Amino acid sequence: MRRGSLIQLTAIALVVGGVCTVVALAVPWLPLEGGKEAQRIDFVYWFATVIAIVVFSVVAAVILFSVWKFRARPDDDSDGPPVHGHTGLEIGWTAVPAVLVTAISIVSAIVLAQNGNAGSNPLKIDVTARQFAWSFTYPNGKTFGYLTLPENRKTQLNITSDDVIHSFWVPQLRQKQDAVPGQHNKLVVTPIRLGTWPVICTELCGVGHSIMRSHVTILSNAAFEKWLASGGKAPAASPGLAAFQKNGCASCHTLKAANANGTIGPDLDKLKSEAAKANRGPLAAFIKQSIVDPGAYLEPGFKNLMPPTFGQQIPPDQLNQLVQYLAQNAK
Ligand code: CUA
Repeated sequence: MRRGSLIQLTAIALVVGGVCTVVALAVPWLPLEGGKEAQRIDFVYWFATVIAIVVFSVVAAVILFSVWKFRARPDDDSDGPPVHGHTGLEIGWTAVPAVLVTAISIVSAIVLAQNGNAGSNPLKIDVTARQFAWSFTYPNGKTFGYLTLPENRKTQLNITSDDVIHSFWVPQLRQKQDAVPGQHNKLVVTPIRLGTWPVICTELCGVGHSIMRSHVTILSNAAFEKWLASGGKAPAASPGLAAFQKNGCASCHTLKAANANGTIGPDLDKLKSEAAKANRGPLAAFIKQSIVDPGAYLEPGFKNLMPPTFGQQIPPDQLNQLVQYLAQNAK
């Protein structure tokens, strides 16, 4: 190949690779990294993605270059020259992918082994799924409808089901594990930051599948021990915060005070300026209307994806607590 062509090919590959890299880095593709296991999984994800971007850039460069350089001119009816393969190229495009795929397998196997290792003294919690709720039983025999975990400590979840197959998933912890009747599946989690995140059922399990949600709260070790010793009293959570968590607001909205960082709905940390823009009466009234009738006003740039059922679903006093809580935390 002539030197000029090689420079052109390389230039196209660099442009394609640059565009892919910007798309990969500029968009926050992954949820918050909440656990050690999540960090390792993300490493594998980006390892494979970088390889994919390089391979894609090379392939795209060859295709674009060929379309541009070797297209048939309008007056050209001749046949192309006979080509008889290229041994060097063939060895190259077999060996390189083999090496890359092997590298991905090795990295994945190491991460799988590390993520499955519960260590010598994990906290053990029994997780039971049933249509359509989760329950979590601690070593002291206490059972809760939500999960509370200590920070920086390995916890081994022992996951089973009372009826059909469900699946346990906390996006911030990345891992998923099926809950199968008659089977106890293990999942090791090591949270590395405080917060409250959704627990989601991610296996179609019946009509209530989409509402089969709970939440996990990560406490510092001392707060966790206190929580467990006190019989599991919610750690000084305000009723408004409790309502925020209970109704799954965090899965779609960002609110620093609640450690929520959803991006599907408007950012509740900016509620005051959003309300001012909307100009629909007092803040509390605006918040209440936005919850019970989410289509009444839409923040520019957002579609109405919020369930219209919260008005019936949330008891009136809880709704008021939630409205107050959001108004207090609005900036
Ligand atoms: Cu349980 Cu879906």
